[in-house]
Amino acid sequence: MEEEIPVRAISFSFRCSKATQQDKGRRMDQRHLSQEEVKELIDQSHKAKEHSYSPYSKFRVGAAVKTRDGRVFTGCNVENACYNLGVCAERNVIAKAVSEGYKDFIAISIASDMETEFISPCGACRQVMREFGCKWDVYLTKTDKSYEKMTVDELLPRSFGPDDLSNKKVSNIPSKH
Ligand code: THU
Repeated sequence: MEEEIPVRAISFSFRCSKATQQDKGRRMDQRHLSQEEVKELIDQSHKAKEHSYSPYSKFRVGAAVKTRDGRVFTGCNVENACYNLGVCAERNVIAKAVSEGYKDFIAISIASDMETEFISPCGACRQVMREFGCKWDVYLTKTDKSYEKMTVDELLPRSFGPDDLSNKKVSNIPSKH
């Protein structure tokens, strides 16, 4: 006889259902893009793809991130002959923005050359997006500029973030040296 395996219902909002430090403030004046702004951001991510340095994978990726005050930063994937040093478009664009003093993001658009699939960010990029809040929008696009919109929280449920570091249990770890 087959045993019934209990299935635990998983809610998608877990950690990020409580606002993170980054999300507080964002809540106050939550801003979503107009259709015009969405189209523009998607166009910018596809344009950024043209600078992709991807001689090894030949997989071009572009990204455009929008900050609350309306600035847009763009980036692309940059590969390396030492393969594992390549960096994704999403992490590049976030590093560009943060290093210019902007980290309050409301949306990011990602573009690739895939015609039939929406480009989906890798795990590392999801974690880097999450560092700057769970409740902002990610536009996954195809070459025809159609898109699927998801939040960072939906892409990386039950995530670990900056706030979790304050929940550590041990305050005094004895040194072995
Ligand atoms: N890549 C990105 O830049 N972003 C993604 O979302 C997926 C993958 C890059 C990494 C590498 O340069 C190439 O695409 C193939 O994996």
